[in-house]
Amino acid sequence: MTENVVTSDNFEHYLVSHPFIGKPENLYNAMNYIMQLGGKRMRPKFLLLAYKANGGNSDEQAMKLALSIETFHNFSLVHDDIMDNAPIRRGKKTVHEEWNMPTAILAGDNLLLQCYRLILETELPCSVELLKEFTAMSALVCDGQQMDMNLPNYETISEADYLKMIELKTAVLPACALKMGAMAAGASEKVAQQYYNFGLNIGMAFQLQDDFLDAFGAEAEIGKQEAGDIIENKRTILYLHAESTLPASECAELKEWMSYSPEQPQEKIERVRQLFKQAGSDSYLAEMKAGYEHNALQILNEVCTDAVYKQQFMLLFDFLKARNS
Ligand code: IPE
Ligand code: IPE
Ligand code: MG
Ligand code: MG
Ligand code: MG
Repeated sequence: MTENVVTSDNFEHYLVSHPFIGKPENLYNAMNYIMQLGGKRMRPKFLLLAYKANGGNSDEQAMKLALSIETFHNFSLVHDDIMDNAPIRRGKKTVHEEWNMPTAILAGDNLLLQCYRLILETELPCSVELLKEFTAMSALVCDGQQMDMNLPNYETISEADYLKMIELKTAVLPACALKMGAMAAGASEKVAQQYYNFGLNIGMAFQLQDDFLDAFGAEAEIGKQEAGDIIENKRTILYLHAESTLPASECAELKEWMSYSPEQPQEKIERVRQLFKQAGSDSYLAEMKAGYEHNALQILNEVCTDAVYKQQFMLLFDFLKARNS
């Protein structure tokens, strides 16, 4: 993406120059491996922007918080890839593939604990409040991930179930990042909460796009196994919409494909993609995503009146809106 978003270069530099250090080496290597594989760094960028937009002026404190948020994200990815049986992340082997399952579990655990260290090391009047926000958010992500894992147990899943699940597993993190950035800069509770709501809407749109790209994107672009959700029989919004829209025979066919895992999944992937398109589920998702983007923009316009920072937020927002990776 365009690099004139304030501080994004600086954040990458800060991350690379603050690796996690300790022994046994293979554990810390695994942690630094995932942290340094790249990624969009969306969450720390939002935190830093919210900090700056609210008049924050201690870059070191803000960087620590931004690093803790990116570290939490990476923890969640390492464990998520175990849960989702994912072989590839950011174009490289996942941690459990490159190392092994115990190392991936421990690398994730340790990354989560490093977040606490980083937040505790900040010397801000609101450090304890930040820790409370962060802890509450972490527990919600856990709840959301368990809801995701529970979905195969249900005969039927409502759209509301799915939306609650993605809110918890994905949207509360950018929301918390923005709120923490605002709080750290001394914003009022009301303003901090508006940033939270902005992030929640961004996060909902983000996970919808993630589900779209997972179904229709190419591995080279998304850096993940192509159609991993279809392979794993994940009932995302695309599936829920198609199931409720397709004629009976096609609906039965979709259910059949999404109930087992053929050794060669290519035919299944092609057919499920066709059925999603036939049902118009891709357009349905796009409309829903646009609704969340609209809400996000409205909140941003209310909460961020500084033209310079608004423009910075818009750059990031527009990049995410159009993203294909
Ligand atoms: C992936 O997040 C996990 C989801 C919540 C969908 P990103 O798409 O932000 O992953 P990176 O950090 O850019 O690799
Ligand atoms: C991930 O959702 C949410 C968290 C990591 C908490 P996904 O399982 O859809 O994310 P990807 O597609 O693997 O990045
Ligand atoms: Mg998952
Ligand atoms: Mg996953
Ligand atoms: Mg996904």
